Amino acid sequence: MTTRPFTVALDGPAASGKGTIARALARQFGFAYLDTGLLYRAVGAQVNAGRDAVEAAESLTAGVLDDPGLRSSQAGQAASKVAAMPAVRAALKDFQRAFARRAGGAVLDGRDIGTVICPQAEVKLYVTASAEARARRRHRELAERGDGISYAEVLADIEARDERDMNRSDAPLRAAEGAVTLDTTEMSIEDAVAAATRAVEARLPQA
Ligand code: DC
Repeated sequence: MTTRPFTVALDGPAASGKGTIARALARQFGFAYLDTGLLYRAVGAQVNAGRDAVEAAESLTAGVLDDPGLRSSQAGQAASKVAAMPAVRAALKDFQRAFARRAGGAVLDGRDIGTVICPQAEVKLYVTASAEARARRRHRELAERGDGISYAEVLADIEARDERDMNRSDAPLRAAEGAVTLDTTEMSIEDAVAAATRAVEARLPQA
């Protein structure tokens, strides 16, 4: 625990395990947690409902982030599309930066946290895995929730999102300078959390 700002920036592609690692770190160190993908998902869902993307991003409220529908693959695709719009990214920036520097520490996961939102973060992690390993995990997760989507569709969805998220001109997904990379293709989630925990412990201010 720390009373000063302390930011853990965690980036990586869809279904890499970054959300699981982020939540474990937040719980362990008593940090606040923001899943920034939800911001883009909420904007994408509103665009699908007929709203203007920038207007939706500028008027976003925390309440809409609790909608379980935002976890669907359709919301993920819609998010990836609005996330390529610089005006949408700009509208969401201040909220994320303020969250990152709150007293008591914060963990944020997304695509550009260590590169654009918080390049000065005390800890930067880049969590990745092969597209097939990520598709297998996401497919299992969706099946457990009763979603009948096939493995092939999940893999195609992940590959399409990777392509868009890594090749857009504004804030493309990449490892930030100084980031610790965790490739979870062959790593258990426990080992990945343990490695992330060590990276945070190494940077925490000594009591
Ligand atoms: O992490 P996620 O799958 O919930 O993110 C959904 C989409 O939002 C993702 O395909 C790209 C976009 N995104 C982004 O561009 N920047 C972020 N910081 C977080 C998400």
